[in-house]
Amino acid sequence: MVQPELAAFRSAVSARLGLRFGDDKGALLEEALRARARAAGRRPADYVEALQRNGSPSEDAALAGLLAVTETCFFREPAHFAILADEVLPRLRASGTAPRLLSAACASGEEAYSLAILLKERLPEGAPRLPVRAVDLHPGALRAARRGVYPEWSLRGVDAGLRAKYFVPEGKGFALRADLAALVRFESRNLAREDPELWAPRSLDAVFCRNLLMYFEPAAAAALVAQIARALAPGGRLFLGQAENLHGMGRAFRTVPSHGAFCYERLPDSAIPSGPGEGGGWVGAIADSAGRVRALSRSRRPAERARAAPDLAAVRDLMARERYTEALEALGGPGGGERRGEALLTRAAVLAQLGRVDEARIACARLLKRRECRAGAHYIAALCHEHADQPELAREQNQAALRQDPDFAPALLHLGMLARRLGDLAAARECFTRALPLLEREDPGRIALYGGGFTREGLVKVCRGALDETGVA
Ligand SMILES: C[S@@+](CC[C@H](N)C(=O)[O-])C[C@H]1O[C@@H](n2cnc3c(N)ncnc32)[C@H](O)[C@@H]1O
Repeated sequence: MVQPELAAFRSAVSARLGLRFGDDKGALLEEALRARARAAGRRPADYVEALQRNGSPSEDAALAGLLAVTETCFFREPAHFAILADEVLPRLRASGTAPRLLSAACASGEEAYSLAILLKERLPEGAPRLPVRAVDLHPGALRAARRGVYPEWSLRGVDAGLRAKYFVPEGKGFALRADLAALVRFESRNLAREDPELWAPRSLDAVFCRNLLMYFEPAAAAALVAQIARALAPGGRLFLGQAENLHGMGRAFRTVPSHGAFCYERLPDSAIPSGPGEGGGWVGAIADSAGRVRALSRSRRPAERARAAPDLAAVRDLMARERYTEALEALGGPGGGERRGEALLTRAAVLAQLGRVDEARIACARLLKRRECRAGAHYIAALCHEHADQPELAREQNQAALRQDPDFAPALLHLGMLARRLGDLAAARECFTRALPLLEREDPGRIALYGGGFTREGLVKVCRGALDETGVA
């Protein structure tokens, strides 16, 4: 298999799942790429292009099924359960509220069921309770979790009394008793995505997110920690794996050593320090991670920079906050990572935003010549033409983008704006009408790349306003 193909696959998987792969994972990636391309009935290069262009939640899950590590067991790191039992549950019991617990990256369910056992054991009869929520992306692990039958080895941390109380022998293993199984709710979720429902503000009292961040790209880890910080109520606790910490991402937390281990406590908003020019809290945490990427890219020599693959998730993070100069820096020198279409496309988008339209146009032309990321390249070329006051050419480029990808929401929105500017209100209306539902579910990575610093909400608002103006309420 050719190296650029594999490199593009690695970065597409990182962008979609947050996962980081060292050089020792080449064979694993290659096998996964072959398997998914075969399943899709495409050549590997075409499959990668499609994944970059419009991956889907079901494809993300299939990739996680091939690439994620799911090792776990009941009551792993027992001190964490003791902290929960001795420090978190009594506080909630005193206030009469049901503990809201989340097992994030629950794998085959042992962690979530351990939490359910703890609730059963430690909450008095009649105390308010809610099911433990448990999320993961690995379809096989989630199937095993819902089935709830475990080999003896998984139960190595469960003492004989609890084993007899909550499990019944089944075949060569042990099945959970049905009343316990009903206390956990499993869901498929991609923790590398923005997820306002899962991470609703102050909706959780404890998050177990153990042994996931260690597999994540720094920017994906920072973004996830930011979402966790938003969702934890002040005083809520975050539990990470033994080999993990919040180094550089922990502004919203204080470290709590206890029971020979430690966890993190969510600070009240008023106690979160904010850095200069930053929003503090999780915003600051993400900025920290972007800063690390920047420092790393500066510390590399030019030749090294040219060879190194840029961290595209971190670059998009900077773009989403309109920090385009830093985003360009994080991309490395002009040669840096340009072997990969996605990196070149990101460079083109950043250059266009900085008004360096001639360089952006050259990058787009190179992509189109190489037949890589064609929808994105046409769209950015359209932005460049508009910048140069060439609306007709911009319109043609957007139409070309939509021939590659008919659901390309930013191109539809832009095309609508151009049509309105050229006086073609019927065409403008049609574009805005098609763009609106697509924008509402557009991929966050693409919004960061193409949204010109707008959030999804911002783009939706622009589109709605444009629809109203062109005559549709
Ligand atoms: C090593 S297991 C951790 C299990 C458990 N939390 C523990 O510490 O014992 C890591 C889990 O993270 C999940 N994972 C990896 N990437 C993910 C993603 N982007 N979204 C959701 N889950 C993911 C994997 O499927 C796997 O089940």
